Amino acid sequence: MIKKVNLVIISLLVLLSCNQEKSPLSKEDEFVSELLGKMTLSEKIGQLNQHTSRWEMTGPAPKNNDSQDQLEQIKNGEVGSMLNVTGADATLNAQKLAVENSRLGIPMIFGYDVIHGYQTMFPIPLAEASSWDPEIVKLSAQVAAKEASAAGLQWTFAPMMDVGRDARWGRVMEGCGEDPYLASVLSVARIKGFQGTDLSANNTIAACAKHFAGYGFSESGRDYNTVDIGSYTLHNIVLPPFKAVAEADVSTFMNSFNIINGTPSTANPYLQRNLLKNKWNFKGFVVSDWGSIEEISNHGAAENLKEAGLLAIKAGSDMDMESNAYSKYLKELVDEGKVDEKLIDDAVKRILKIKYKLGLFNDPYQYSNIEREKKEIYSKENRAAARNVARHSMVLLKNKAQLLPLSKQIKSIALIGSLADSKDIPLGSWRAKAIKNSAVSLLEGIQSAVSAKTKINYSKGCNLTIGDRSFLQELSYEQNDKSGFQDAIKAAQNSEVVIMALGEDCWQSGEGRSQTDIRLKGQQQDLFNAVKKVNKNIVVVLMNGRPLAIPEIAENAAAVLETWFGGSEAGNAIADVLFGDYNPSGKLTMSFPRNAGQCPIYYNHMNTGRPTSTNNVFWSHYTDAPNTPLYPFGYGLSYTSFAYGEATINSSAIKKDETIEIKISLANTGKYEGEEVVQLYIQDPKATYARPVKELKQFKKIKLKPDENIQVSFKLKPEDLGYYSPEGEFLIESGEYHIYVGGNSQEVKQVNFTLID
Ligand code: NOJ
Repeated sequence: MIKKVNLVIISLLVLLSCNQEKSPLSKEDEFVSELLGKMTLSEKIGQLNQHTSRWEMTGPAPKNNDSQDQLEQIKNGEVGSMLNVTGADATLNAQKLAVENSRLGIPMIFGYDVIHGYQTMFPIPLAEASSWDPEIVKLSAQVAAKEASAAGLQWTFAPMMDVGRDARWGRVMEGCGEDPYLASVLSVARIKGFQGTDLSANNTIAACAKHFAGYGFSESGRDYNTVDIGSYTLHNIVLPPFKAVAEADVSTFMNSFNIINGTPSTANPYLQRNLLKNKWNFKGFVVSDWGSIEEISNHGAAENLKEAGLLAIKAGSDMDMESNAYSKYLKELVDEGKVDEKLIDDAVKRILKIKYKLGLFNDPYQYSNIEREKKEIYSKENRAAARNVARHSMVLLKNKAQLLPLSKQIKSIALIGSLADSKDIPLGSWRAKAIKNSAVSLLEGIQSAVSAKTKINYSKGCNLTIGDRSFLQELSYEQNDKSGFQDAIKAAQNSEVVIMALGEDCWQSGEGRSQTDIRLKGQQQDLFNAVKKVNKNIVVVLMNGRPLAIPEIAENAAAVLETWFGGSEAGNAIADVLFGDYNPSGKLTMSFPRNAGQCPIYYNHMNTGRPTSTNNVFWSHYTDAPNTPLYPFGYGLSYTSFAYGEATINSSAIKKDETIEIKISLANTGKYEGEEVVQLYIQDPKATYARPVKELKQFKKIKLKPDENIQVSFKLKPEDLGYYSPEGEFLIESGEYHIYVGGNSQEVKQVNFTLID
């Protein structure tokens, strides 16, 4: 009987939504308001409640009482969303529970961490950012959305746009690096890739801007640690990427675990209400991070879970991920008059609206399509896209005497290192539904690239880790065993060139994976030193999820190629670069420190009052290392060479309603066709509030054939010169500006101009 009533209501809703699908926004609001009008308080609170899966949904076969409760909650319409339910079949069954049993039949929204691919793994986001190519980043997100939506998902918890200045923080692998402008451009591209132009299409999914806000600034790079940054850094560095994606219509936001200047972000009304929902006019909804409502009381900012729930809903956290604070206490809080039901209505409306946009009221089952799932996931086409994106993500850090690219006819290669034959490590952390050991290893990639006559002398040399490795566990590193060194040395002695795959296990970076030491772990450095004694032609292929401190490698290897964790097709893509089928074009988006003691280290720092060397110690420096990084932001080589002319400017002064044009000539002076990322930085040397020594404002990726040259032109508007005061007021100040243009943040050509009132 109940079921019948539900179906009538569903049909009505479907009819309504069908009629209104192509209608203007007001109709959408009308639909949502009408539905809201029918909901009881418990049903409303249910929409704010998100659960992770704890059972085999294909049964459905509850494993314990807890999951039985969940089933009942879903049937009662008390669960608005689930995470970690994946697969067309499982999502279909779960959705049916909600739609066919609950009074109003409101569909759930299924979310998942689709961070760099669903089953076809793309390079980790930090790697993709190194492409400095919004189209490449968008392509990766598009394919991920296609696969995830075919598996019944409508929502990804990505992109992460936390600015990463500290390589000790393991989650830098999930972001775009240290620059807020680059993070803005690339995060908008990622959102466009996930969401497409029509959210209701069955191959697009809602994106989620995370973590709002400040999470990347955890003290000493320790995950979940306290964040205490000035409001000047908040407005100028942390917030701009979030503002950019809010303007680009991202569907949802996720708040963060950390406290920021004493207030947990999840309980922060200034961030979520004043700024995001009011000033930026964000119309989507905010989901808490996992248990972050409950953690408000661990931080010491709430008495108990009930008070934490009160603070969170008031602050603007709309959906409760895994704290159960809303489901347990919101009704009580309303009854006690502590929470105005209007706050709940607002949160529910936001959630229903995204569900509407996703077409869930039209067809709650459209995403769960077993045929599509079989066809779309891990297809040849998707893997080809992953290979292409991986090639674009690599950064050539050193290439002494043009050792690279190698000839495919080379007689012999020694391939050494514990990462060299790994089919798992290249998949990276946050790997969604990647199949363990499914990546193309470097060994396999090289084998398919070289001629049949090339002898590959493979030797592992050492193990990086010992024991089990997984998403949930700490790793143990091999500290003593050098028994494989002799074999590796022999392989190196018998080969023309040595390729050494060094770096990190993929479970060294990601959530909960901070390190105080970011050098090569285990026996890797010793192995390199031993091999170097017998063969100097060493190409180091780095695989890692964060900048590493590798001064000895930088000094002693002949070539160094940063490949990050390249995804399913990593081995093929690396071989494409090593053997010249693709000319590397990536540039670093995080500075590589010389040692962890320099962290946080970033190019857009302030000048300090004592910036330059004196003949005594009293200037801002270290006594045991230079201030500069090993490799700076924006740095990366190509197999060809590029020459920059002088930068020119069309006027030495502009007014506040004018545009300025900067030009620079760029020539390919080498032997290969190649791409160069031309970067434009500004500096406001005398401002009301001290400004950074450089700030990236624009960039262009230019492809040139040998001997070709062009004039690269940039146009800057006065808004591009602006910044935020510590109070969040946007200022555009008159006075002198320096413009720097070049191929990285250190090697630049300068021109100046004045902005006049
Ligand atoms: C915690 C992470 O911080 C967040 O980024 C992720 O989306 C959620 N867990 C869900 O897995």
